Amino acid sequence: MPPSNINRAHLTRWIKDHRASFESELRELVEIPSISMDPSRKGDIRRCADAAAALIRAAGGTAEILETVANPIVQGAFLRDPSFPTVTIYNHMDVQPADEPTWKQDPFRMSNVDGTYGGRGTTDDKGPALTAFYAARYAVEQNIPVNIRFLWELEEEIGSPSFEGCLKANAGKLTTNSVVVSDTVWIARGKPAVSTGLRGMVTALLSLETGTEDRHSGLVGGLARNPLAELAEVIAGCVDARSGKVLIEGFYKNVQKPKKSELDGFLASGFRTSQFQKVHGFKSLRTRDHKAGAAAIWALPTFEVHGITGGYQGPGVKSVVPPRGEVKISMRLVPNQTPQEALKLLTRHVKKLNKDVVVKGQHGLLPYRGPSDGPLADAAVESLRFAFGKKPAFVREGGSIGAVVTMEQVLKCPIMFIGLSLPEHGYHAPNENYDWGQASGGMVAFTRYFELLSQKS
Ligand code: BES
Ligand code: MN
Ligand code: MN
Repeated sequence: MPPSNINRAHLTRWIKDHRASFESELRELVEIPSISMDPSRKGDIRRCADAAAALIRAAGGTAEILETVANPIVQGAFLRDPSFPTVTIYNHMDVQPADEPTWKQDPFRMSNVDGTYGGRGTTDDKGPALTAFYAARYAVEQNIPVNIRFLWELEEEIGSPSFEGCLKANAGKLTTNSVVVSDTVWIARGKPAVSTGLRGMVTALLSLETGTEDRHSGLVGGLARNPLAELAEVIAGCVDARSGKVLIEGFYKNVQKPKKSELDGFLASGFRTSQFQKVHGFKSLRTRDHKAGAAAIWALPTFEVHGITGGYQGPGVKSVVPPRGEVKISMRLVPNQTPQEALKLLTRHVKKLNKDVVVKGQHGLLPYRGPSDGPLADAAVESLRFAFGKKPAFVREGGSIGAVVTMEQVLKCPIMFIGLSLPEHGYHAPNENYDWGQASGGMVAFTRYFELLSQKS
């Protein structure tokens, strides 16, 4: 590893001096409710793209809004010299809805309590985006010989439906030697992690209609079919709820079993089920075994039930037999599963269990496997060690980022992950937050990463 020429004291000073502007720019972004799932927020998506592009321009970079059939993508750059290597930083600027009743604040006002930033999108993914952006600004100011591009997507949280088309149409002007994605989580505060994989995903709606309207269960109950009970039976036929084992025929056929060395690495990473349980507020878990727990969230597929609708939802019990019900499910996928195959197997299995259930598959994302050795992985490890004083572990992520596989295929370059979020930051959860410790450390890490990339090739 070549030694660093970064003047640590100067960088630390610069970061301190820019804290106020970082916080006000994060506030500006967080206070735009760029909820990609909500069609009524189209205007906010546009405003967020404009605000993000303006930030890059104000820092002396170039920025352009690439139109897609759905949400725009912000493409920005600090292009300095064609002979320098180019790195592209990927983040997303869209957010999840924030309708959870336990928010202690307006989710679209950013709170700042001693450097803890509260609000939807603070950690997923506006805070990390801005952190990497500030490091890029510093690297440019210090003449680190690297070109830096930004790809800021606004439809990640809905599976990036138009990202591929847009990337293909614009690939010519997005040339890069590598991509670094900052949209992943650490094991715990003080326990940095570099991700080497993402799970894929496919979602589906299972619906069943057995009548036309509610009927009095005293009148019809016993003879009428109950769609919710039948759907519950179908769910039970798809997943063993206690162990999480998926019961769909053929589901595990292509699953690539994690190597023993990787499982050992999961344990060595410091992942502990007890800490996981505590930080997420669970009453208990499916297993207390650390290795099995890590494998379950990172390296094995899932069948998850997200919602069951139908029937009476108001106070008390209304004794009707409902005419229809719907179940919202997803399957997280691992190498070498594909969303198409998983959906096919699900449909066949459900039809066998209950021929009247209609399966409607939605978008799918392929799982991703990235490198854990080679120059980029080494650079990511060294950057986090340099910034946080602790060597990161290689883990995988249980989540999905639709753009990753697409970027690898279309930009034809390796993808690395330097995430900064912590479990307690609460991805998608009420009271989502991010903090100055991760942001300021992250600026150091990204600066070092840019330096290392500039010294290679
Ligand atoms: N940042 C997450 C991905 C992630 C989740 C990384 C958990 C590491 C751990 C991303 O914003 C996300 O939430 N992705 C969605 C995509 C889906 C809606 C298509 C996901 O994983 O559910
Ligand atoms: Mn994210
Ligand atoms: Mn997310």
